[in-house]
Amino acid sequence: MEEKIEEKILVLDFGGQYNQLIARRVRENSVYAEIKPYNKITPEEIKAKNYKGIIFTGGPNSVYDMSSPHYDKDVFDLGIPVLGICYGVQLMAYMLGGEVRAADNGSEYGRTETTLHTSPLFSDIPEHIITFMSHTDYISRMPDNFVSIAHTDKCPTAAICDEKNNLYGVQFHPEVTHTEYGKTIIKNFLFNVCKCRGLWTMDDFVKKSVDYYKRTLENKKVLLALSGGVDSSVAAVLLHKAIGDRLVCVFVDHGLMRLDEGDFVEKTFKGMFGINLIRLNCEDYFLSKLSGTTEPEAKRKIIGESFIRVFEQEAKKIGHVNALVQGTIYPDVIESGLRDSATIKSHHNVGGLPDVIAFDEIIEPLRELFKDEVREVGEKLGIPHELVWRQPFPGPGLAVRIIGEITKEKLEILKLADAIFREEIANFKLEKMTNQYFAVLTDTRSVGVMGDARTYGYTIALRAVTTDDFMTAEWTRLPYELLSKASNRITNEVGGISRVVYDITSKPPATVEWE
Ligand code: XMP
Repeated sequence: MEEKIEEKILVLDFGGQYNQLIARRVRENSVYAEIKPYNKITPEEIKAKNYKGIIFTGGPNSVYDMSSPHYDKDVFDLGIPVLGICYGVQLMAYMLGGEVRAADNGSEYGRTETTLHTSPLFSDIPEHIITFMSHTDYISRMPDNFVSIAHTDKCPTAAICDEKNNLYGVQFHPEVTHTEYGKTIIKNFLFNVCKCRGLWTMDDFVKKSVDYYKRTLENKKVLLALSGGVDSSVAAVLLHKAIGDRLVCVFVDHGLMRLDEGDFVEKTFKGMFGINLIRLNCEDYFLSKLSGTTEPEAKRKIIGESFIRVFEQEAKKIGHVNALVQGTIYPDVIESGLRDSATIKSHHNVGGLPDVIAFDEIIEPLRELFKDEVREVGEKLGIPHELVWRQPFPGPGLAVRIIGEITKEKLEILKLADAIFREEIANFKLEKMTNQYFAVLTDTRSVGVMGDARTYGYTIALRAVTTDDFMTAEWTRLPYELLSKASNRITNEVGGISRVVYDITSKPPATVEWE
């Protein structure tokens, strides 16, 4: 599919922490951007791929460090516009014969008053703006043909350009929200300098993907493991549009999903889209396998292995398939590109499936998309909003939210409590305040009183976190009224619970899930 994308920007990665953000900012302007580590692509390859522009990212190094990433100077002879950001502009200046030095009067970090001069890069932007800086070196002498197009109190070369050759660079970070008009700067580079037209839209992506798979998968049988998560759901509907019943979706319902979720998945895909879906109801099988196990990692392993066994059996009935679909998305591709290629496969295997079934090829229909783009495609395809915007849900499901041994009774209690908590968050219209929220059934029982009777029930913990990337997370400051309502309802409506607590630990030191 990638070759069908007409207009592409290359984000050449020199180790900057904002590389994905830069690519997303470009794509917000309907221009496709892809990230490549600087040592994984040569100028000849760049030329062959016909990029409309190149962005050099920032990076933690100084251009004079022996170990700092450098690049082949030929890149500037390709006639492709370049925008260097932070380390990227310093590298550009250095490579073209300029000079970079440690700033005499100190580094600049954070919000910085910046004065812009007239330039195509700064169209429609006021003369004085705040930019976000993070540098200790600066360009002390510009290369030939370059002029300064922005300055700060400390830095005379806050932005530079060689307008004739379409080479631009900014010392600050236009991709972060702290830089005022940062989005406009990126937009100006794309449209004023690179002369992009803005052809990357999700409508177009859907149309081209459907055409492409119609052609390339003619007469072929394709298998997809549907989990009900956003990525596999979008991939399923997209491929179904292209090849109809030749797509076989297998949904292994391990019984560890949220309340009524299995039915919802079946209703949506079979009922709404008429997808060829095989639902395997395996709650009893999974519960029997999990019986007696309390250790978190052991539970995960059992679930993974049981999943493969179930799938294997079903695959035998289906017979040979031509292709297997995987829900890989662009951040997985980027991450894999940064690691040894040997590790790529295991990372993308859906629960290890490729080892257990016979197939000729893997197709990854969403491999060019960021998560927000996957969701947009989902909306375009008419997938219900609640499915497209659902919060992340771990593969092992509620098994990692029931501490200790898993029993049917505990599973039922947790499903009901969790549904109430989610319902109250929806009633308070606070879904956007938190990125993931759920209930956990702890293995602690405590004494309670109901009417005149003493109770001795389970303790439910409620968890809600606010995060960008799930690597770190803050516990969400949900209003007391909401917590109070949820607690009252859970203790009244769900039997067997005598206490509700709210988890106020961030990550680190805790993780999001309890197990
Ligand atoms: P933790 O608990 O590691 O969770 O802070 C971070 C994010 O990952 C999800 N998670 C999982 N997802 N399989 C998954 O597919 C798993 O085994 C798993 N464990 C955690 C978790 O829900 C959170 O969004």
